[in-house]
Amino acid sequence: MKTIKLKKIIIKILKKYGFNNYNAKLIAEILIYAEFVNASSHGVSRLSMYCNRIKKKLIDPKGKIKIKNISNNISLIDSNNNIGFIGAYAGIKQSIAKAKKYGISLVAVKNSGHYGLSSYYIDKAVKSNLISFCFTNAPPAIAPYGAKKSLFGTNPIAFGAPIKNKPAFIFDSSMSKINRGKIRIAAKLGKKIPYGVALDKFGKITTDPKKALKGVQLPISDFKGSGLAWMVDILSGVLTGSAHGGSVKDPFDDFTGPQNIGHLFITFKANLFVKDFSKRILNNIKKVKKLPKIKGVREIMYPGQSKYQRYKKNKKKDINLPKKIYDELQNLLK
Ligand SMILES: NC(=O)c1ccc[n+]([C@@H]2O[C@H](COP(=O)([O-])OP(=O)(O)OC[C@H]3O[C@@H](n4cnc5c(N)ncnc54)[C@H](O)[C@@H]3O)[C@@H](O)[C@H]2O)c1
Repeated sequence: MKTIKLKKIIIKILKKYGFNNYNAKLIAEILIYAEFVNASSHGVSRLSMYCNRIKKKLIDPKGKIKIKNISNNISLIDSNNNIGFIGAYAGIKQSIAKAKKYGISLVAVKNSGHYGLSSYYIDKAVKSNLISFCFTNAPPAIAPYGAKKSLFGTNPIAFGAPIKNKPAFIFDSSMSKINRGKIRIAAKLGKKIPYGVALDKFGKITTDPKKALKGVQLPISDFKGSGLAWMVDILSGVLTGSAHGGSVKDPFDDFTGPQNIGHLFITFKANLFVKDFSKRILNNIKKVKKLPKIKGVREIMYPGQSKYQRYKKNKKKDINLPKKIYDELQNLLK
């Protein structure tokens, strides 16, 4: 489908579900960004879930964003249960504005929800020549190291640094071996998941996404991944006044209340300590790229590089939606 047509359909659906024109356009842009970077697990396939939660009054499309400035460059944003994209966008906008003015900013968002891909927000900061970290917690998916039951979310950590005239360095990764969205979409489309990324409810490795969703996902690097997911829960949940410790609700199948997810943005100028940051980071990347490569590797890529290339290539093409997702959109329009 042509991107313009798809965007119009998404906007129409979002407005029907109560969003104003500005927010509907923004959400559509973020969902389509996910399609462009081949992260369809976080794209249009999620729209029916968001709409379902709006219908159940678990997301408030009119939720007012309230910004409380704690000091010049520290803010707490109450997203008032609006959809995660809106709270997170307000968060990064505030973080960028304050970092530009004061050199560094710390912005927390509470009463928010699932916000899609962290790189969308980080991209806004690097485009303003800023370095940025962002954290968000998510519903239980990973068992803490040593536990039988999942409690931490896939809790992504994202970091971005600008590189002059080149795609930015953007490392953006969940703390699980694969992100939960990939398991959700495999379950939806009747596909298998890779071996070794999840256990069923009896603790056995499974490639069946439905069994994996009832079991636990495995963290990256055992106790190290578990520790990082925990750190994100503290920064996004405990620190911001949001849900934490396993109490973030799963947006797909827990309708007992809003998600109350938290996000945290730390943004700062790239030239705080050195005048020639852009030269130094280029030099740093050159050194890595010059290393001898293992068999089969043509180029050593830095995080964010291939995502940018996918984005540029896919932006020119139509978006191919699976029939099931296309049918969902048609139903949402009715
Ligand atoms: N909102 C949420 O609750 C939530 C939860 C989990 C994940 N997510 C999002 O899902 C997205 C995907 O997460 P993921 O864990 O599947 O990421 P991923 O495994 O696709 O990539 C992780 C990181 O590795 C880098 N990378 C990948 N291949 C590389 C290579 N060959 N060389 C160098 N670097 C490489 C990528 O640029 C990326 O920064 C992220 O944008 C994340 O923010 C969101």
